[in-house]
Amino acid sequence: MRTPIVAANWKMNKTQAEAREYCRRFRELVPRDFPVELVIFPPFTALHVVREELSGTPIKWGAQNAHPEPKGAFTGEVSLPMLIEHGISYVIVGHSERRHIFGETDEFISRKVRAVLDAGLSPILCVGERLEERRSGRAWEVVEGQLSAALGVLSAEEASQVVIAYEPVWAIGTGVPARPEDAQEMATAIRGWLAERFGDVAQKVRIQYGGSVKPGNAGDFLKLPDIDGALVGGASLDPDSFFAIAEEAS
Ligand code: PGA
Repeated sequence: MRTPIVAANWKMNKTQAEAREYCRRFRELVPRDFPVELVIFPPFTALHVVREELSGTPIKWGAQNAHPEPKGAFTGEVSLPMLIEHGISYVIVGHSERRHIFGETDEFISRKVRAVLDAGLSPILCVGERLEERRSGRAWEVVEGQLSAALGVLSAEEASQVVIAYEPVWAIGTGVPARPEDAQEMATAIRGWLAERFGDVAQKVRIQYGGSVKPGNAGDFLKLPDIDGALVGGASLDPDSFFAIAEEAS
């Protein structure tokens, strides 16, 4: 049995005061024995607040990004040793906004996956095709290329630590989610790819769907056999809405 994992990607939202208010409400909603792993991804500047408010609860937190080098002349970047001090468990790697707005390449993303694993943390690796790639029947080819580049050189043990988020680029922040059958088809293909490379570990790896997930549609994705959770942007900014989504996974 794979424990579902539902994550809140706040992106560039929430001041420290807003983060504190959110966490105080959210931790009231989540029962101690909640059967879903919950992870909050605040901006770097609110990580310490989230840690203060969520320590001692079952809710985890992580970083939206990290540089693969431990230190150095990389103005504006944050390293894994710096983030580990904030008690993080997960790092989002290869989000489409990092790939497409900030120009991160497959090669750079693979270095990040390696660095996150070497730091003893778990990456949430985001993969997904653009609209023109889906329309031209190349969705799997694109996703397979992203998987090969990021995970191809890992051992099976390392691969078992990775969470994969399938997020079609055209579904992110648009209000237009993928069709559940397309998400399931992609998740099955991803699991098949993992099985070819890593054997039985494929049955342990959790695959999330992301892209315009809301309380009203989350259940359609979370009930699918190969979807083990959700990565939620816009609808995670309100604690009640995010908890309503998480409940669909429980
Ligand atoms: P969205 O974002 O839920 O706002 O579509 C998802 C994501 O970027 O992870």
